[in-house]
Amino acid sequence: MSVPRPAAVIVLAAGEGTRMKSRTPKILHELCGRALVDHMLAAARGLRPGRLIVVVGHERERVRSHLERTSPEAQVVVQAEQRGTGHAVRVALETAGAVDGTVLVTYGDTPLLRTATLAALLERHAHDGNAVTVLTAEVPDPRGYGRIVRDTTGAVLEIVEEKDAGPEQRAIREMNSGVYAFDGLLLADAVKRVSTSNAQGEEYLTDVLSILRGDGHRVGAHVAADHVEVEGVNDRVQLAFARRVLNSRLLEAHMRAGVTVIDPDSTWVDVDVTLEPDTVIHPGTQLHGRTAVAAGAEIGPASTLTDTIVGEGALVRNAVCVEAEIGPEAVVGPYTYLRPGTVLARKVKAGTYVEMKNARVGEGAKVPHLTYVGDAVIGKGANIGASTIFVNYDGVAKHPTTVGEHAFVGCDTMLVAPVNIGDGAYTAAGSVIDGDVPPGAIGVARGRQRNIEGWVARRRAGTRSAEAALRAAEAENQQGSGT
Ligand code: UD1
Ligand code: CA
Repeated sequence: MSVPRPAAVIVLAAGEGTRMKSRTPKILHELCGRALVDHMLAAARGLRPGRLIVVVGHERERVRSHLERTSPEAQVVVQAEQRGTGHAVRVALETAGAVDGTVLVTYGDTPLLRTATLAALLERHAHDGNAVTVLTAEVPDPRGYGRIVRDTTGAVLEIVEEKDAGPEQRAIREMNSGVYAFDGLLLADAVKRVSTSNAQGEEYLTDVLSILRGDGHRVGAHVAADHVEVEGVNDRVQLAFARRVLNSRLLEAHMRAGVTVIDPDSTWVDVDVTLEPDTVIHPGTQLHGRTAVAAGAEIGPASTLTDTIVGEGALVRNAVCVEAEIGPEAVVGPYTYLRPGTVLARKVKAGTYVEMKNARVGEGAKVPHLTYVGDAVIGKGANIGASTIFVNYDGVAKHPTTVGEHAFVGCDTMLVAPVNIGDGAYTAAGSVIDGDVPPGAIGVARGRQRNIEGWVARRRAGTRSAEAALRAAEAENQQGSGT
């Protein structure tokens, strides 16, 4: 069935959201990688509306600049004073001009609403030939919401706000979601006739229903299948709830598409994450931003990946990765930190207590333990010994290091950048390498060892070390005399 496209969607987002107790405007709070308002706009965009209008007020400049980035096609309308939902729509239509066609009104703080639910509302609206159709839901606890008042035949009479409702009306469990499909021209006219004679002294958008009904127009309702979808976020408890709901939805879609999620309760994914079939996500894993994981890769346990690309069959365990690229069959972790600009080729190993930043590591190269790699290019098949440090920063500027193909950097090497280790070159363990090592050479840069015989007996007499040394000397003497 083809869904009728709305002529316009108006998103009301001027309110302050005081219950968030936040310096950040409510609608800019993050949920699964997107601001609350952007979830609503994404759902609205799915309807391909002729126009997208967002009404802003509180912190309008901050909200406006956010929207310019995320939804440049949206028209931002300022409602300087928040004098009610009816006032917000009136200001929108007076500023943007009346809209001939269907106008969908929604809020910026209902991130769980799906395009499909909005489409069902529009279908009902068109099918019944209504002047207005309100999206409603039966909720277990309707406190705080406007109630849908119907007559004995079930026809919608009006919406009564909690603060204006009597006890009988308060007992109604069908709530107003705040989402409506309107005939645009009738809306533009009716919204001018809304009064402020109510408990809150506001222009209620809900009054448009009774006004249109009074004019003899058809007024209808569409009951949402799932009331959770229409519940807004007003405080951080509801934000956490919405996060859990959205996360389960996303994980369910991934699982149905062939991803194994070992523990959905401790796995968190953002909306733009992509996972190919046969990836396995272990407990305690968070995948953020545009992270993309290819088939057969395993992520986790306890890993956080942000904007990271993982190749086929790679293993990433107990790792934190930000803007990194992990090649096919690479092995990362446990306890590895890959920072922006890290690019690991096929079959690279980045092991335990290894940190990398702005580093390109060639195919099959290994950085197995206790190492910092910064501003470096490492050739294919190279081996970086435990405890190597790429000394890339001199306190003022960062400098690059290159390590050639199949080079072997000894344990505890300091590579003082800028420096180049040639193809097939070695460095001796414990070296401080501050000059280039040519291909095939070994760079040795450390003090020579000298042993001072008998030092412990003379300078640490009577200690356990001295006693152990004495026993060793006696054992050697006996062995010597026995043969
Ligand atoms: C409104 C409805 C109520 C419904 C509930 C659902 C009215 C009169 N009441 O009540 O029936 O059950 O939503 O959540 O419409 N806004 C503006 N400008 C304003 C006032 C509000 O943009 O001047 C925006 C807010 O930012 C918010 C939305 O409209 O996103 C709803 O406003 P709010 O004050 O929360 O309305 P409720 O009292 O919850
Ligand atoms: Ca509200």
